[in-house]
Amino acid sequence: MAVERTLSIIKPDATRRNLTGKIIAKFEEAGLKVVASRRLRLSQADAEAFYGVHKERPFFKDLVSFMISGPVVVQVLEGEGAIQKNRDVMGATNPANAAAGTIRKEFAESIEANSVHGSDAPETAANEIKFFFRDLDIVG
Ligand code: CMP
Repeated sequence: MAVERTLSIIKPDATRRNLTGKIIAKFEEAGLKVVASRRLRLSQADAEAFYGVHKERPFFKDLVSFMISGPVVVQVLEGEGAIQKNRDVMGATNPANAAAGTIRKEFAESIEANSVHGSDAPETAANEIKFFFRDLDIVG
């Protein structure tokens, strides 16, 4: 399987509860390597742009408010099949449907405060990585 890179966001509900290390441990245990990492606070414009694909959805406004409510940790994860592997480790979007042992099953509070975001496809991953990182910031 090809080595890929994907974008991960540790969301404000998880940084608020000091779960960053526990979540990164899940990525590392699954064979994903953190090749870039930054803690930051999204502006409203950043959050609206990042989640632009969802702008017509009923939850968009609340999603943006939540994502700017505290710090996030944005990371590039690298590994074989990293995009799907990260999605497997995260679990289903709604923690009520997430499998045992996944990040969202163990840590998420709700479908909105679901602790992590991960890119869903190769093109999205490339665009989402570019949203936060320059090539120089990524060290494999
Ligand atoms: P994420 O993977 O970051 O992508 C979009 C986010 O919207 C999703 O995780 C959820 O946290 C959030 N969201 C809030 N409500 C819903 C919903 N009803 N369906 C899907 N996503 C939702």
